[in-house]
Amino acid sequence: MNTEVGNLIYKGKAKDVYETDDPEKVMVKFRDDITAGDGAKKENLKKKGFYNSIISTKFFKILEEAGVKTQYVELIKPRYMLSKKLKMIPLEVITRNIAAGSLLRNFPFEEKQEFEPPIIQMDYKSDEYHDPTLNDDIAVALGFVTRKELKTIRDITLKINSVLKDFLKSKGILFPDFKIEFGRDSQGNIILGDEISPDSCRFWDSETWDVLDKDLFRKGESGVMEAYITVASRVLDDEDKKKWNLNI
Ligand code: TMP
Ligand code: ASP
Repeated sequence: MNTEVGNLIYKGKAKDVYETDDPEKVMVKFRDDITAGDGAKKENLKKKGFYNSIISTKFFKILEEAGVKTQYVELIKPRYMLSKKLKMIPLEVITRNIAAGSLLRNFPFEEKQEFEPPIIQMDYKSDEYHDPTLNDDIAVALGFVTRKELKTIRDITLKINSVLKDFLKSKGILFPDFKIEFGRDSQGNIILGDEISPDSCRFWDSETWDVLDKDLFRKGESGVMEAYITVASRVLDDEDKKKWNLNI
């Protein structure tokens, strides 16, 4: 299938979305741009989009096998993910298993404090408003979701957390927190969209607690791409690596 199809319908900070000849599907292109601070800090990280598309595909496939509906249709080739067309809900659904990041800046939790059950936090996805945390009443009053949909989103999110946490544990990776986004398909079903990658998750090595995600970039540290490749090399199986010609 041709990869550069149709008009560009959305340009995000790290991905582009194109129309395809199927009105129910779009092509998501993972770019190499990497940003922090609502786009204030921006760089180009060679091959980041290549790896993030493959890592996201792996997670979406694992979730589909576990019965979670995702946007994923097919990775046509690295960077180009054919996806179901969704109307995205402007919420960043964050799940926290271990205290890190903004949770420590904003609340008196202890560093590396563990949460069981996990904390689910929802932020309004908006560069203009700087992604403020909201609550159910605000999300409903803004017309983003119904209360029933919020319950569905929470239930699916907890399932995603437990499936991915177990999978990552088996690969020697801790899963302190992650951010996901949902959309509605043409029938109004709530479907997991966007991506699940080192851009949108915290991944720590289980033994050393070394950071293997975008926090390295946020903090101006080196080895960002090496960390993403480490995640790819641990989560992909030999078949995936062979398919995409990866010597990792
Ligand atoms: P935080 O601790 O900075 O709020 O981040 C929580 C999780 O959300 C972390 O796994 C990184 C991810 N995240 C995004 O995907 N996009 C963002 O804009 C931010 C701030 C965090
Ligand atoms: N704040 C986002 C992040 O750190 C990126 C951005 O807003 O530019 O993931």
